[in-house]
Amino acid sequence: MKITAENAAACDVYVQFCFEGQPVSVPGEDGKIADAAIAKKEFEGKEGTQLLIRSAQGKRLLLGMGKEKEFGIDSLRVGAAKAACFARETNAKSMRFKYSKTAVLAAKGVRAYAQALTEGTLLSLYKFDKYKTGEEAQKQKEKKMSAVCIECSPSEKGEVWKAIAYACAVSEAANFARDVGNEAGNDAHPMEIAKKVSKMAKENGIKCRVLGKKECEREGMGLYLAVNAGSAHEPAFVVLEYSPKGAKGTVCLVGKGVTFDSGGISLKPSRDMEKMKHDKCGAAAVYGAVLAAAKLKLQLRIIGITPLVENLPSGSATKPGDIVKAMNGKTVEILNTDAEGRLILADALLYAQKYKPSAVVDLATLTGAVAVALGPHAAGVLGNNAGLIAKVKEAGENTHERVWELPLWKEYFEVTKGEFADIKNIGDGDAGTIVAAAFLGSFVDEKTPWAHIDIAATGYSYKPKGYNMQVGATGFGVRLLAHMLSAWKKSKKK
Ligand code: BES
Ligand code: ZN
Ligand code: ZN
Repeated sequence: MKITAENAAACDVYVQFCFEGQPVSVPGEDGKIADAAIAKKEFEGKEGTQLLIRSAQGKRLLLGMGKEKEFGIDSLRVGAAKAACFARETNAKSMRFKYSKTAVLAAKGVRAYAQALTEGTLLSLYKFDKYKTGEEAQKQKEKKMSAVCIECSPSEKGEVWKAIAYACAVSEAANFARDVGNEAGNDAHPMEIAKKVSKMAKENGIKCRVLGKKECEREGMGLYLAVNAGSAHEPAFVVLEYSPKGAKGTVCLVGKGVTFDSGGISLKPSRDMEKMKHDKCGAAAVYGAVLAAAKLKLQLRIIGITPLVENLPSGSATKPGDIVKAMNGKTVEILNTDAEGRLILADALLYAQKYKPSAVVDLATLTGAVAVALGPHAAGVLGNNAGLIAKVKEAGENTHERVWELPLWKEYFEVTKGEFADIKNIGDGDAGTIVAAAFLGSFVDEKTPWAHIDIAATGYSYKPKGYNMQVGATGFGVRLLAHMLSAWKKSKKK
């Protein structure tokens, strides 16, 4: 699909943003007001309302944006999503956003405005329909929009084009992450994901290294390998490297990649267990972020480290009480095989520190407890460096992939002290999200700035919302990381 800054392009649906309390003017074919509802002032522009009318330009979709002073940039993403889904459902091939001076001002500039419209459009049109067959499915697949344009003044064109390019890069990368996160467990064993990711890497000038079981044994990744011990499939420890010439600094991104989490011997209840195919959304977000960095040609070296495993019970599976050794020699008593994410991440974080990075950020669908604390509206963030956490928070606000910080005081480390080994993989049941982060933190050198983002409640969702209309993986984290890394370059240059 082409998104452009052309004002004159013809379109099947013309989209107009309307603010509450501000007059709606729509010229009809005869120059008078086009629609009775507007003439009678029945359409008030309340947030979430819409009205379809016929105007001189054809089909026009009026979208209520609510009160101007209550405006938030995310309402433009949601508005664009509504328009795009309406256009596609009605078989339209093109749509155009009417210039809204109020929205541009409220967005604090045409760049943020055009970026939000592009993101809302591309994210909302994402579908995961590769497994659907039959005539009806075929019909749905054929409903495709080919052109979207964003009106602007000639002097704004440059900015709008830049915004479109940025938004296309991050949205396509987020949609790639959703594809990985949504893949069915039987088609997405670790090596199969590794293959899909190496192809993506090759196409985008990113280096990709895949360590199999032998190599990981040689590295001494005992915690990582313990989680895959019950699987009939080989593990794949995937390392992506985006390394542009003249890069300023190295950032490591680490993502939890459990292609299916049954809980292992500490088996999960069967209700909702199928959703654990999304337990690889942390890894998926890392793939998306590295892809976005490459598309945006960021001047930063970015290493994406994703331990992929399948957590299953079997005769060879790790058992509660088993003691295993991490890459740095630390011993861990595994008391619950369902607390597997922290095990694979511990070895991955140790691996990351070999790069001597300026920062390490990990993303993981790590704990059910984060849903209890924050619900689906924010991810939990914890770490050892206030500056880095501030960067993550700022990026979260900007992209509406919001995060909320939880404390990581030394008391939370106490409960993971082991009886028979150095450390155990669960605490006493309280503060689940924090204790999991403390476990990770005990594998990170305090001199390495580190932030952990728990996306268990945001990485996937079964309630269509805003611009995430396809249930399943949301791509959460990709736009956040892309924004953080783009801003990084600027602050480093100063
Ligand atoms: N993958 C799960 C966390 C999860 C739960 C993600 C629900 C998304 C939705 C993780 O591996 C897990 O099972 N965590 C346990 C830890 C517990 C055993 C200490 C949990 O949160 O219950
Ligand atoms: Zn688990
Ligand atoms: Zn898990």
